[in-house]
Amino acid sequence: MGFHGFFLFAILIPYISFGTSSHESQNLTSSSLNDLEGLIGFSSCLESAIPDWNSYASPDYCTWSGVTCVGTSVVRLELGSTRLMGKICESLVGLDQLRVLNLSDNLFTGSLPNTLFHLQNLEVMDLSNNHFEGPINTAICSSLPQLRVIKLSGNLFSGKIPGNLGNCSSLQHLSINENNLSGSLPGSIFQLQYLRVLLLQENKLSGQLSKGLGKLSNLVEFDISNNEFSGILPNIFGSLTRLKFFCAEANRFTVLVSLSNCLRLEGIGHGSDHLHCGEIPVNFKKLQSLTQLSLSYTGLHNLSSALEVLSHCRNLSTLLLPWNFHNEQMPQPQGQNIVFSNLKVLVLSNSQIKGSFPKWLSGCKMLQMLDLSWNHLTGSIPSWIGNLNNLYYLNLSNNSFTGKIPQSLTVVLSLQLRNLSLEQTTFAFPFKMVGNVNIYKRVSSYRPSLVLSYNKLEGPMWPGFGNLKSLHVMDLKHNSLSGPIPWQLSGMVMMEILDLSHNKLTGEIPQSLIELSFLSSFDVSYNQLHGEIPEKGQFDTFPPTSFQGNMDLYYSHDTSGFILSPPDETCAQPHYQKLEIIGFPFWFGGVAGFLITIAMCFTSGWLFS
Ligand SMILES: *[C@@H]1O[C@H](CO)[C@@H](O)[C@H](O)[C@H]1NC(C)=O
Ligand SMILES: *[C@@H]1O[C@H](CO)[C@@H](O)[C@H](O)[C@H]1NC(C)=O
Ligand SMILES: *[C@@H]1O[C@H](CO)[C@@H](O)[C@H](O)[C@H]1NC(C)=O
Ligand SMILES: *[C@@H]1O[C@H](CO)[C@@H](O)[C@H](O)[C@H]1NC(C)=O
Ligand SMILES: *[C@@H]1O[C@H](CO)[C@@H](O)[C@H](O)[C@H]1NC(C)=O
Ligand SMILES: *[C@@H]1O[C@H](CO)[C@@H](O)[C@H](O)[C@H]1NC(C)=O
Ligand SMILES: *[C@@H]1O[C@H](CO)[C@@H](O)[C@H](O)[C@H]1NC(C)=O
Ligand SMILES: *[C@@H]1O[C@H](CO)[C@@H](O)[C@H](O)[C@H]1NC(C)=O
Ligand SMILES: *[C@@H]1O[C@H](CO)[C@@H](O)[C@H](O)[C@H]1NC(C)=O
Repeated sequence: MGFHGFFLFAILIPYISFGTSSHESQNLTSSSLNDLEGLIGFSSCLESAIPDWNSYASPDYCTWSGVTCVGTSVVRLELGSTRLMGKICESLVGLDQLRVLNLSDNLFTGSLPNTLFHLQNLEVMDLSNNHFEGPINTAICSSLPQLRVIKLSGNLFSGKIPGNLGNCSSLQHLSINENNLSGSLPGSIFQLQYLRVLLLQENKLSGQLSKGLGKLSNLVEFDISNNEFSGILPNIFGSLTRLKFFCAEANRFTVLVSLSNCLRLEGIGHGSDHLHCGEIPVNFKKLQSLTQLSLSYTGLHNLSSALEVLSHCRNLSTLLLPWNFHNEQMPQPQGQNIVFSNLKVLVLSNSQIKGSFPKWLSGCKMLQMLDLSWNHLTGSIPSWIGNLNNLYYLNLSNNSFTGKIPQSLTVVLSLQLRNLSLEQTTFAFPFKMVGNVNIYKRVSSYRPSLVLSYNKLEGPMWPGFGNLKSLHVMDLKHNSLSGPIPWQLSGMVMMEILDLSHNKLTGEIPQSLIELSFLSSFDVSYNQLHGEIPEKGQFDTFPPTSFQGNMDLYYSHDTSGFILSPPDETCAQPHYQKLEIIGFPFWFGGVAGFLITIAMCFTSGWLFS
């Protein structure tokens, strides 16, 4: 018994003696004693105190934090995010009227006690984001028939999904994502006719998915990503007409079989030894409610048919299809047969897609985020891109775009507004990298960025870029940009990362750039710049490597008279180390803050209404 429990037990003694000798004044029923005992017993198993549960001043447990009563019966126990440690013990069974048990986001350990499954009135069980382990008790549905919500995500549960889940016939929400569950999906799950949310991502679930999934006709959110499901992803989408969110990436599916056209994907993460082959099923057209679709890394092919099918999903706002369509041609249909009027986020990266910039995007006026990086796109970046007034993130890195940077980008409205709100895009999605490393990013973690690095762009840097007051990242490295760095860039007041390295820029580094007070990373190495390196402001924190490989750049206070020109690189060592000590924390802070790595496809902050 922890210290705290002992303290509460001391309160219980006068309570009991008083209660038995004077029923009338205290009005204690046996049920209220059970509730009190239940709470005290629960508390006594903890290794940490519960705020407000330790006072003689409030013997009425119904006023304790997180406790809600009807009469003297506890009906809700809600202690989420209170840093509670320890185990849940048997005594909780005393709360026989409990309907809502919410212990999410704490530090609970151990397995779930059997008595938890005697709480016959329980409707909501939220134990997500703790360190619970062991199997999910098979009693969960045979004993708790009223359960509407089961949230066990973000724990260490292992073993199989209980086969009798179908007995939780009232179940609307089941999230057991981010655990260590294995085995196949029990067929009884398909009996849950009220199920709206089914989140299974990030486990080790395997086997084939049955067509029975199509019976879950009320399903709104469905995520099976990052598991080991194999075989054919059943074409059940004709019946899941309420589906708004579907995520199935990083499994071992062959989406639909047409085997002669299959592509063998090699060397991309796990699953590389599997034959992937499939198209977006035509009856995806029926998913009129679909708002978000993430099928990255599923071995899809036929981009042209995928876009045609998905353009029928009028409400589609997020489309994430990276690592698919290997080596295909970017479709450029004539006329208006691809229209995504509500599309806000499009990720079609890492696919070595050939051809030119997609013209059909000019109709996507809502577009906020466009990632076409790591493809083989050629030709120029069209100037109509400046008409996409909501765009705040553009990543065209590592293509073969030529010509000038469209001047129209300097007037993209959302990049000009300083008070830009990214709240519309709070959902999360996984972003896969080569190898076995999965990187997950929340869309809202993408800061306003203009990334055109590793292309063949030439021409000037427009002075108008200074208008982009909300831009945080400008990465133009490895192009052939020429002319001076405009002094007006000091207008990009939110700038954190400015990388202009490996271009053909000339002139001096404008002194005005010292005004960029958020700048944590700056790189102009390997250009043809000359003159004094600005001092003061953030410039005191950038390492000499940011300036190397230029014509004639120097520090005015450099007593050694050292000039950062290419042949002298090796001599830079002592100087470099001195400055690096100052520069590193700034640089690190900026980058670490940007690449927010989260271990889930959704976060609690995001839910469909
Ligand atoms: C006291 O008990 C009586 C009879 O069981 C019940 O009607 C009444 O609501 C109780 N009072 C309180 C404050 O719980
Ligand atoms: C549990 O409590 C947390 C806050 O601590 C809340 O965000 C969450 O929505 C609750 N769970 C349910 C199922 O209501
Ligand atoms: C659970 O459901 C099965 C049928 O799926 C049924 O045979 C069994 O009696 C149910 N168990 C309980 C406890 O309701
Ligand atoms: C996951 O479960 C397997 C057995 O299915 C077990 O061997 C392994 O240790 C578990 N991993 C963790 C991190 O709990
Ligand atoms: C599409 O979105 C609009 C606006 O949010 C909504 O009113 C409409 O019901 C949605 N259509 C479908 C088929 O879900
Ligand atoms: C792609 O799909 C379209 C329409 O379904 C079809 O006409 C075309 O032949 C397919 N292309 C390939 C390469 O399979
Ligand atoms: C742009 O895309 C590349 C390749 O996908 C990625 O590595 C890089 O982090 C992206 N840049 C930003 C600022 O998001
Ligand atoms: C560019 O993309 C190719 C794959 O298309 C990849 O192998 C290469 O590493 C990428 N280069 C950079 C600099 O990101
Ligand atoms: C943003 O700023 C503009 C002008 O500065 C103002 O008109 C607009 O109302 C602001 N929007 C928000 C959401 O604060």
